[in-house]
Amino acid sequence: MPVALHVVDHPLIADSLTRVRDKDTPNAMFRQELERIGTLLMAEATRGLTTHAVSVPTPLTETTGRQLTTQPIVVPVLRAGLGFLHAAQELLPNADVGFIGVARDESTHQPVPYVNKLPESLAARQCIVLDPMLATGGSLAHTCRLLIERGATGTIIVVCVLAAPEGIELLRKAKLDLAIYTAALDERLNDTAFIVPGLGDAGDRQFGSPA
Ligand code: PRP
Repeated sequence: MPVALHVVDHPLIADSLTRVRDKDTPNAMFRQELERIGTLLMAEATRGLTTHAVSVPTPLTETTGRQLTTQPIVVPVLRAGLGFLHAAQELLPNADVGFIGVARDESTHQPVPYVNKLPESLAARQCIVLDPMLATGGSLAHTCRLLIERGATGTIIVVCVLAAPEGIELLRKAKLDLAIYTAALDERLNDTAFIVPGLGDAGDRQFGSPA
């Protein structure tokens, strides 16, 4: 089962990413720029969704259009993933939303789950996971396992801003079937498992420190 990594090369993403990385960007602007990146990444990430032909009456005649065949389910990973939710709902207004809460333990860097609010069955649903940061990959692997437990099959789409090579490696070893859309693949993790050069803590930069 493959992990396909798509680093989306787009001038508007690059432009926003510069402000998102900048430590002097205020939280309000950080959220705004994150959302812009989310919109652009979502457009790429949803390119493969299935559509079918439908008949549509224009004011002049009858023609053929296309409609999404099924609605995906969007899953933001709390807290930082909430920064992509508005963008995802703007593009997929009829998609259901499930919530996963995972906090990374600061000393072990292991994911500590605290919310699981998913539909009973995800069979035949295209899942789109939103989490700006893919660092060790532990939070994403945990989230994907919860989706699979609920019946998700096939490729899970993941939208993030930054990915670290160490996280991609962990997901490959976990044999997850993923299509990851990211604004950048960064260099590495530091000793505290933060992405370098990175952008800091995407949750804190949107919502402030919880401590
Ligand atoms: C961050 C980030 C990811 C996770 C990535 O969340 O938003 O969910 O860490 O790290 P990993 O790939 O090593 O698991 P954090 O635990 O800081 O929570 P927050 O979103 O509430 O800030």
